[in-house]
Amino acid sequence: MNQLQKEILELKKEKNAIILAHNYQTAEIQEIADFLGDSLELCLKASQIEDADLVVFCGVDFMAETAFILNPDKKILLPDLSAECPMAHMLPAEEVREYKRRYPDAAVVLYVNTMAEAKAEADILCTSANAQQVVESLPEEQILFGPDMNLASYVAQKVDKEIIPIPQEGYCYVHKMFQPTDIMVMREKYPDAELLVHPECNPELQELADQVLSTGGMVHYVASSPGKTFLIGTEVDMVTRLLRENPDKTIIPLLSEAICQNMKLHTLEKVKNSLLKEEYQVKVDPGIADRARMAVERMLSLSN
Ligand code: 13P
Ligand code: SF4
Repeated sequence: MNQLQKEILELKKEKNAIILAHNYQTAEIQEIADFLGDSLELCLKASQIEDADLVVFCGVDFMAETAFILNPDKKILLPDLSAECPMAHMLPAEEVREYKRRYPDAAVVLYVNTMAEAKAEADILCTSANAQQVVESLPEEQILFGPDMNLASYVAQKVDKEIIPIPQEGYCYVHKMFQPTDIMVMREKYPDAELLVHPECNPELQELADQVLSTGGMVHYVASSPGKTFLIGTEVDMVTRLLRENPDKTIIPLLSEAICQNMKLHTLEKVKNSLLKEEYQVKVDPGIADRARMAVERMLSLSN
């Protein structure tokens, strides 16, 4: 631990705070987190916080909002308020309402990568770890699903229902960077490697992969697989965690340029500042939060 990390751990105790971090955070932030996980694991963890007064969320805006929705009486802090997920802003609430008017019989399943106002329009949320389970849990045969079109197409292949992507072209700019040629080059270099990709990748990438998994799914898969070499098709700092937890395995990013700049806005200095000044607080309008909470809790009930 460096000096700054030690200071953060001290401050965290003084303030009775906890630090939640997504798997795409840098190594130095991963090391000081109380809990590191994928979107579903972070939601579950946020739903179980009992004794902390402050929650510092090292992730993007929609994650901090969801933590607030689940903990409206606590201070939820983002160390850098501009850490937004561009995909989460691709489906405004009004557009969801418009689709609901056009498809009155459809259920609305929204990816957790949406802003609170859109979440308030959903019947249930999902993450990349449980999308198939969520859709299968619903009685409706027609599903409005958004905003990630690649996750929508992944789910459409797994279930026997009509999946209507909303909007038509929601995507993650990081996972869009991967090309089939990246796979060809890396497969040639590492012929024995297993290729794991995230469902936010394009369908042609998913077809070429050995496994399509959420980031939490990748953590469990690499830990339990007898395989020794893995190519990882998601944000590069996923590899940071996998290497730390599996020092005996060879784990290589499929593309080292696949960096989520938004996630990287958080730094140790900003985490310290966040704890010291108790900023930047993330809040959601109570009426919206109440409606969004129903959709979040309906999803979480499937994990219990
Ligand atoms: P998961 O960690 O839930 O797989 O999602 C990846 C992601 O892009 C979060 O924004
Ligand atoms: Fe959003 Fe993509 Fe970054 Fe995840 S990796 S936070 S989906 S921009």
